[in-house]
Amino acid sequence: MNKGMTMGGKGRSTRMPGPGRWMGLLLGAILLASPWWAAVDGAAAGPRGAVATVHPEATRAGIEAMKAGGNAVDATVAAALMLGVVDGHNSGLGGGCFILARLADGRALAIDGRETAPALATRDLYLRDGRVDGRLSQHGVLAAGVPGELAALAHLATNFGRLPLAWSLERAARVAEKGFVPGRAYQGRVRATHEELAWAPADAPEFAEFRRIWAMPSGRGRWRLKQPELAATYRSVASGGVQSFYQGPMARRAVDFTSRHGGLMREEDWSGYRPRLRQPVRTTYRGHEIVGFPPPSSGGVHVGQILGMLERLDLRAMGEDSPEMVHVVVEAMKRAFADRALWLGDPDHVRVPQGLLSKDYLDARAAGIDAGRSTDVRGAGEPPSATVDVFESERWRHTTHFSAVDAEGNWVACTATVNTSFGSKVVVPGTGLVLNNEMDDFAAAPGVPNYFGLVGSEANAVAGGKRPLSSMSPTVVLRDGRPVLVVGAAGGPTIISQAVLAIIRVVDFGHGPREALKGRRFHHQWRPDEVVLERSWGPRMAEALRSRGHAVRWVDSLGATQAVGVGVGGTLEAASDPRVEGLGATW
Ligand code: GLY
Repeated sequence: MNKGMTMGGKGRSTRMPGPGRWMGLLLGAILLASPWWAAVDGAAAGPRGAVATVHPEATRAGIEAMKAGGNAVDATVAAALMLGVVDGHNSGLGGGCFILARLADGRALAIDGRETAPALATRDLYLRDGRVDGRLSQHGVLAAGVPGELAALAHLATNFGRLPLAWSLERAARVAEKGFVPGRAYQGRVRATHEELAWAPADAPEFAEFRRIWAMPSGRGRWRLKQPELAATYRSVASGGVQSFYQGPMARRAVDFTSRHGGLMREEDWSGYRPRLRQPVRTTYRGHEIVGFPPPSSGGVHVGQILGMLERLDLRAMGEDSPEMVHVVVEAMKRAFADRALWLGDPDHVRVPQGLLSKDYLDARAAGIDAGRSTDVRGAGEPPSATVDVFESERWRHTTHFSAVDAEGNWVACTATVNTSFGSKVVVPGTGLVLNNEMDDFAAAPGVPNYFGLVGSEANAVAGGKRPLSSMSPTVVLRDGRPVLVVGAAGGPTIISQAVLAIIRVVDFGHGPREALKGRRFHHQWRPDEVVLERSWGPRMAEALRSRGHAVRWVDSLGATQAVGVGVGGTLEAASDPRVEGLGATW
């Protein structure tokens, strides 16, 4: 770790010693007297940047990008590419991402790098004898959509960054080549993924490369996972440009391999891939502006809906973590997820009503919340102007989150994914490229749950060229027109709940990002009708919820949130979820 870096992983904060200590204390005192952003506006005071990711190596890459003259955009790109190496079970060039940025000049960007269904995909793709075969959308070549992460990162770096994309590619390629020591989380995911593939013959060719590359020795030690093929892929993009990935040898290799094993992707699907630039979703919550990601993410809409319903209730008076508070938040989550199941899909293919966020609609939705009892939410509501006032498209118009901020005022949130661990488990031979299984985020048939137990409708049915609905929720929160929090999470549909809980803990309960991420979590996604509770809540909360009519399911820990924001004392904090082996750092 570099001197002068402040670490906030595991919810801790360690000021590194050094000659600047007294100066730091003095600056700290100044910062306590005035907000962080005011102190750094045009002045060399306070942290110059902050990054939070699930992996220290990726956080370091982000910080180094800024030290090399880059901004928060470059930090985001460097972190993303490093995560593809050291955290490849969650994200990588074979997957997709959503990038939400609030730039120093006040512009807000939403770059959609979501994977796209091959043109030949049809709505019954995963039906066999009239029934959904979930294995087909989760494992193997039919599970993969055309990857979008690289195109989105390249758009971001080229238009808003200072460093060439090649800088970040090379930085990550070196680690891929030299290897890294996989942590407990990585090893656990490898084991779990091998178990998931137990149904497939051990010599199934589409999974051979995955099994070979990830046949790591069990147990601890300093054994390093080296990925020379992935390093070569990164370097070929660095020298040949992004078009070499989408229109050159990479696309050809991926298409040759997947079509040999029954896949539908063609070279035109790759060469035609474009990131989409969308209008962020803007809502408000108790005097704060909430900027979220629009469809095909459901994140911005439903984070906005849940907060919009809760705005009518005095959470602070109920008490943080009181049964009353947990109950009403659960009730708001249920209603939002019921809407998600019916209305949400790719806005380039279906009409997603803007009315889902109208104040009147949310009033009506929230009116049914009974403070004392769980209510039976039968289904979605009927938002106003459902067919005309829709999210614009071009026509009518498992996962990881990371956040980066710089002193110029660029705030970037990126959530990237190959979907479940190691995506489809298909690695294109000789490339190290793990193909996603994002096709499972479509509704394979109306009402049939996907891997995450989510149900969907016609709006999210499979179609060629369509992007599957996502829960990824990169979010920026502003107060008085200035960003104060950039946040997002990993963990399928729980991403939405995690983002909401982090925002509530900051806005309603006055915590800084680090404290906010330590808070206990819960989740409700309408179907199944149960509250998911972290075990740390203990039996009293479970009893209190059961007495209100809720079913409860325990989990050891829920999700992984990463945030950067202005802390209680007005200083910038980078917070990595204490539940994972990540790192938040400022410099
Ligand atoms: N693959 C998880 C999501 O996009 O919601």
